[in-house]
Amino acid sequence: MPPAWTPDDWRRCQVRQMPVYADAAKLAAVEAKLGRYPPLVFAGEARQLKAALARAAEGQAFVLQGGDCAESFQDFTANIIRDTFRVLLQMSVVLTFGASLPVVKLGRMGGQFAKPRSSDTETRDGTTLPAYRGDLVNGPEFTAEARTPDPGRMETGYFQSAGTLNLLRAFATGGYADLHEVHRWNLGFVARSPLADRYQDIAHRIDETLAFMAACGISSATTPQLHHTDFFTSHEALLLPYEQALTRVDSTSGDWYACSAHFLWIGDRTRDPEGAHVAFLRGLTNPIGVKVGPSMKADELLRLIDILNPKDEPGRLTLIARMGAEKVESLLPPLLRAVKRSGRRVVWICDPMHGNTITSADGRKTRSFDSILAEARRFFDAHAAEGTWAGGVHVEMTGHAVTECIGGAHGLTMGDLDARYETSCDPRLNAEQSLELAFLVAEELKARRQRAERPAPARRQRKG
Ligand code: PEP
Ligand code: CO
Repeated sequence: MPPAWTPDDWRRCQVRQMPVYADAAKLAAVEAKLGRYPPLVFAGEARQLKAALARAAEGQAFVLQGGDCAESFQDFTANIIRDTFRVLLQMSVVLTFGASLPVVKLGRMGGQFAKPRSSDTETRDGTTLPAYRGDLVNGPEFTAEARTPDPGRMETGYFQSAGTLNLLRAFATGGYADLHEVHRWNLGFVARSPLADRYQDIAHRIDETLAFMAACGISSATTPQLHHTDFFTSHEALLLPYEQALTRVDSTSGDWYACSAHFLWIGDRTRDPEGAHVAFLRGLTNPIGVKVGPSMKADELLRLIDILNPKDEPGRLTLIARMGAEKVESLLPPLLRAVKRSGRRVVWICDPMHGNTITSADGRKTRSFDSILAEARRFFDAHAAEGTWAGGVHVEMTGHAVTECIGGAHGLTMGDLDARYETSCDPRLNAEQSLELAFLVAEELKARRQRAERPAPARRQRKG
């Protein structure tokens, strides 16, 4: 029998994307402190999420994962949390209607602070400093002081995550997430959109459905499901000292759980089957994800599935494809086929953001709404062709009117980027663009559902 997994196994593997902390004693002190702090999530919640994702693996649910590319310590306000949560709920109502299935809501929130970088350093005007790796590690300002990795930031991240989770739980159960309210916000969005005619159809059908349900006596007062919602948190498990300190044995099951969030994923740069991140996540009992980028080969993917989900537990593993609009048609189908042939149960979701980043003439990172939508559509097409279930979408978005991605109904251009470019990392869809994407994906889901339900046309008999 191989030795049992322990939360520090990763320390014996090659560790990528990790900061170098100069003060080892301070690092150890912070790790010890975090190790004594209460967990941020409860294992029972992670099990609930795994069960919901298992339904998505079986084609009986759709996943919506979204939020900031990187949360920041500076933007820690009730309004920012509320507005991102609100747009995710709005998107989820539209998608529920389009798919006619429950939508599993997963925020990139309450812990999404650590970022992988393509280079360890950044040079400006002849000065070279460590790259910014997210607020959990160092500061974004280009000074030696800010860029020095500080273990104390992990404690700030822990408390900010606790504050965010507290508010999200209050919103999810305290009445803010009432379906009727969320629908009313969507009607406001439709009225403002230049594409109102297009979106009106779905909005009116939801209206009619709610009125019909009310007539049957199903309302928020009688049915808690309309008043409450389930909302889960997720982030990239990148900074392993932080994740290890928050990993605990669940007293009810005796299993190991990461308690920094309900769901953790491995990024495209840290998914080496032999590397530290895979060594760490394989031992957790939480539902987990892996980003699947253009360099992923079928045999490597099957190996990762074996390592990360050896018992083929449905809901355990979500594959987050992020190929880019131009590559998804050629690169995704062989992977879908290989996984299908292996009989392994996974959830496939589409991240149409990370393969579609471009740079404007003045050096700003942006993404075009058209490429994002195109990748999502091609992802659905690939699944339809292979007979597999396109289980959800993963987006970088915010509830505010930022100008970071170009396109959409309001026609943002490269020239508009300067107006409100606020991201501390990658460009996000703003509130209107996020909802638009949800309406367009819902249309797509509805059309596919109708095609699947329609009986196949009878073959014409050849006269002989
Ligand atoms: C991210 O999700 O912000 C990210 C860095 O993604 P990827 O690992 O797919 O590049
Ligand atoms: Co990103």
